[in-house]
Amino acid sequence: MKKLRKAVFPVGGLGTRFLPATKAMPKEMLTVVDRPLIQYAVDEAREAEIEQMIFVTGRGKSAIEDHFDISYELETTMSERGKDLDAIQGTRFRPGEVIYVRQQEPIGLGHAIWCARHIIGDEPFAIFLPDELMVGTPGCMKQMVEAYEQTGGNIVCGYEVPDSETHKYGVITPGEQHGALVEVKALVEKPAPGTAPSNLMIPGRYILQPEVMRVLEGQARGAGNEIQLTDAMAQMIGTQPFHAWRFDGRRFDCGDKAGFITANIALALDREDIAPAVRSWMRDTLG
Ligand code: UTP
Repeated sequence: MKKLRKAVFPVGGLGTRFLPATKAMPKEMLTVVDRPLIQYAVDEAREAEIEQMIFVTGRGKSAIEDHFDISYELETTMSERGKDLDAIQGTRFRPGEVIYVRQQEPIGLGHAIWCARHIIGDEPFAIFLPDELMVGTPGCMKQMVEAYEQTGGNIVCGYEVPDSETHKYGVITPGEQHGALVEVKALVEKPAPGTAPSNLMIPGRYILQPEVMRVLEGQARGAGNEIQLTDAMAQMIGTQPFHAWRFDGRRFDCGDKAGFITANIALALDREDIAPAVRSWMRDTLG
C-alpha cells in the first residue's frame, strides 16, 4: 500500500452562499476566531503527515497564496518593534510544500479535483474541503489515515446529520459496520428530501485512489449541472475497497452562515484568552 503523501484543496468555488463577503475575498479566507478556514485545513493535513499540498484555485483567490507566503514587511516591522512572531508561525509553506493549479471555470468539485491529475500521478491522495471545519483530537484526517493504513482503498469521512439536512450533501448507503468503520455500498449526491439511504453524509474529507481521476475524465455533469465528485466515487465502489470513517469530533459547515457563526462561538469558547469575555456576553444576552 502506498503511503498517503499528497492532498488536494479545491478552493476554486464562487462561495455564492456567503455574498457579499465573498465578492472580492475567497470563502476559504473567512476567519474563525483568528485563523482563516484554509489554515485550519492545512494544519489538519500537516498533523496527518501530508507532505505536498495541491491547491486548485480560481480567479480572485490570490489572498490564499499570500496568506501562506513570507510577509517580509510584516516580519521585519514586527521584529524591529520587538513584537514576537508567534501569531504568524506556521503560516508559511516550506519550499516545495505547495503547488497551485488553476481551475479556469468553476464547474464542480469533481472537475476541480481532476485539474490536479498530473500532480497526483499514480498515488493515493487526500481531499480537504476547507469550508468544512473538523475539530477533533486527533484531527479528522489523522483518524482517517490510521483507518486507511488498515483497509487501504478509498475512505470518506462519515458524519451523522438530522434527516431534514441530508438533501444538502453526498450521502452513504451503509453496509457492514466494524466500530467506526462502515462499508460503503453506494453513494448519492443531494438526495431528494425523504429519499436518503441513511443520514451519514460526507463532510468534505476523503482519501481516494488515483483511478478516480480516470473516472472523472469522462464524467458527465450531475446534480446542479456540475461535475460531481460523488458520482465518480460511486463508480469506484465494487472495484476497490470503499469505506466510511465515522469521525469522532465536531463538524461545522462554514460555507453556511449559521454554521460559520456557530463555529466562531464554539471555538471562541474553547480559547482560554477570550472565552471568559464571550461567555459573559452570552450569559447577559441569552439570560
Ligand atoms: P461548494 O459546494 O461549497 O461551492 O464547494 P462554492 O462555490 O464554494 O460555494 P457556494 O455553494 O456557491 O456558496 C465545495 C468546495 O469545492 C470547491 C469550493 O471552493 C469548496 O471548497 N469547488 C467547488 C471548486 O474548487 N470548484 C468548483 O467548481 C466548485
